[in-house]
Amino acid sequence: MAFNPETFIPEAVEEIKTKVGNKKAVIAVSGGVDSMVAAALAAKAIPGQLTAIFVDTGFMRKGEAKNVKEASEKAGIPLTVVDESARFIGKLGGVSDPEQKRKIIGELFIRVFEENAKGSGAEVLIQGTIAPDWIESGGAGRDTIKSHHNVGGLPEEMGLELCEPLRELYKHEVRMVGKGLGLPRHIFERQPFPGPALAVRVVGEITQERLEIVREACAIVEEEIDAASAKELMERPWQYFAAVLPTKTVGVAGDERIYKYTIIVRAVRSLDGMTANFSKIPPEVLGAISTRITNEVKGAGRVLYDITNKPPSTIEME
Ligand code: XMP
Repeated sequence: MAFNPETFIPEAVEEIKTKVGNKKAVIAVSGGVDSMVAAALAAKAIPGQLTAIFVDTGFMRKGEAKNVKEASEKAGIPLTVVDESARFIGKLGGVSDPEQKRKIIGELFIRVFEENAKGSGAEVLIQGTIAPDWIESGGAGRDTIKSHHNVGGLPEEMGLELCEPLRELYKHEVRMVGKGLGLPRHIFERQPFPGPALAVRVVGEITQERLEIVREACAIVEEEIDAASAKELMERPWQYFAAVLPTKTVGVAGDERIYKYTIIVRAVRSLDGMTANFSKIPPEVLGAISTRITNEVKGAGRVLYDITNKPPSTIEME
């Protein structure tokens, strides 16, 4: 049977009401579609009993904290923004293994969230977990593809009851729920964004320099592809962003050879993130992205376009 948000929304609201009862609940909002939709459902189900926390890890997209704050206000989500960026980057010095990076970020996230959730008196934790999250995190005889930042850990450590209203849904269904809840289009149509955020787009060790490079490059990729899709020059990809490699490659400036970082542009067509095909971006759009990145992003010297599908590749570069 086709998914119907009009049936799902009242059922999910009831589920949250029953689970939370007259207790208080807390949710971590990341700026992504899933947590915003889960928070909006909770705000509808248990108004006055919800605390929503946005932890600024420093790995957020350009302008993210401000955008999330504004969007939450519009959706009636009571949001507290906590800036912990210095603490996160401080913990990651010298770490280049992707799974270790994920673990460090996940653990610190739990600690920061716990510190901030304590005062709220919450007994229930609401999470925006969706089906691909737990499928890829292993269990039920499945191999772990990656340790998802938003799955597991939090409830056991915090002694909170868990409520995951979107657990059985796929991304396109979550968007339908967001639309059905009356969230602004830019929220429910927002491209997926990973829990560990830009940290998985700085390949290798995360340094402040490469983090700023990827933040700026991601903003340019989004702007150019949004503009090209709006002009119908191309189909809007399911996800589109930039990542930065740890190695520098050579370039020229005047008569000097200079060494700068290599940026990879990634854009994919997908339904649920489980499989994906690289997007066929018109060469002039790729050219505009490349020119802007090498002109505007200090430290970026070369731009490549990723033409691998998932599988064998993944969407993020870690
Ligand atoms: P990969 O890179 O495994 O990613 O092909 C599939 C989709 O999942 C997103 N992603 C995450 N989402 N927490 C999330 O909520 C995470 O830890 C995480 N890691 C990757 C990725 O952006 C893509 O859409």
